[in-house]
Amino acid sequence: MIRAVPIGIGHYLPERVVENAEFEATLDTSDEWIRARSGIERRHFAAEGETTSQMAVAAAQAALKMAGLTAADIDAIVVATSTPDLTFPSAATMVQAGLGMEGGFAFDVQAVCAGFVYALANANALVVSGQARRVLVIGAETFSRIMDWTDRGTCVLFGDGAGALILEGREEAGTPADRGILATDLHSDGRYRDLLYVDGGVSSSQTTGVLRMEGREVFRHAVEKLAETAHAALEKAGLGAADVDWVVPHQANLRIITRTAQKMGVDMDRVVVTVQDHGNTSAASIPLALSVGVARGQIKPGDLLVAEAIGGGLAWGSVVMRW
Ligand code: UT7
Repeated sequence: MIRAVPIGIGHYLPERVVENAEFEATLDTSDEWIRARSGIERRHFAAEGETTSQMAVAAAQAALKMAGLTAADIDAIVVATSTPDLTFPSAATMVQAGLGMEGGFAFDVQAVCAGFVYALANANALVVSGQARRVLVIGAETFSRIMDWTDRGTCVLFGDGAGALILEGREEAGTPADRGILATDLHSDGRYRDLLYVDGGVSSSQTTGVLRMEGREVFRHAVEKLAETAHAALEKAGLGAADVDWVVPHQANLRIITRTAQKMGVDMDRVVVTVQDHGNTSAASIPLALSVGVARGQIKPGDLLVAEAIGGGLAWGSVVMRW
């Protein structure tokens, strides 16, 4: 059977690094509080004029380089983002042009922090169904543009960046030992809209809006739902927690990451953690963690990975993939 196999990964982080202590000047907060409650120590913020699609192009170029490919070898681009450059066209078509591609097709996926997991599931379906052979899957965000800088409960948590993964359709045996995406598990429940949302938009206020979050409630749902979806995806793949080499979680909060790993029955030395350096980069966080995990020498060919994420919607899910 055809599997969507990862063949290249790359990332881009904007130059400006903001340490927790910088927020102490303008907010009633502290480095100690932010570290203790979230695990975040610093984050990157895009420069003035630097856009989501520009960061996505830089990440894509790094992934293409690693795969030894050029943009002409790509059939489709899927960008997961909630912070596109414009309302339309899609960030993905801007990436397509930015890479100098004249063929193929490109579109965005919007599932907030679960966006990259949703994008992977969609890209996998394109590959497995024969609609595309090589798909560039990108998570890219500029959440610094939708912060309320007076809300200490949110503005200290988020960051900007982009990560890109290239999937290629390859003939595999059809067993859990295959390389590539082995299972996906997606969920959403729109009744939880008010827990995490942006208070502006095209058809409502004609403004961009800023992020609003009931942190404690989102935390509760995350701890409950992430281990559940990870287990479900592993079961679909015919595998269990003992088979997992690396959990690559959405990087929102170290306490969520730790509790989810505990519930999954996976030790923290098998979890890729980047939240301390990136903060929460929403749809970019998993591809950033994948790219950093590979660069650190943690993730190696043949390793079994579980990526899991939850965010606004609520929308959540997971992907089981052999590197
Ligand atoms: O990526 C999408 C998914 N998002 C998430 O997964 C985020 C989930 N939520 C969280 O990560 C955590 O809930 C937060 C990090 C947002 C907050 O941590 P918490 O332990 O749940 O704190 P809390 O909201 O219960 O707030 C505790 C206290 C409050 O003060 P009072 O009411 O107890 O007096 C807050 O006002 O901490 C206060 N607080 C702060 N204090 C210093 C909130 N933000 C800050 C801050 N600095 N930045």
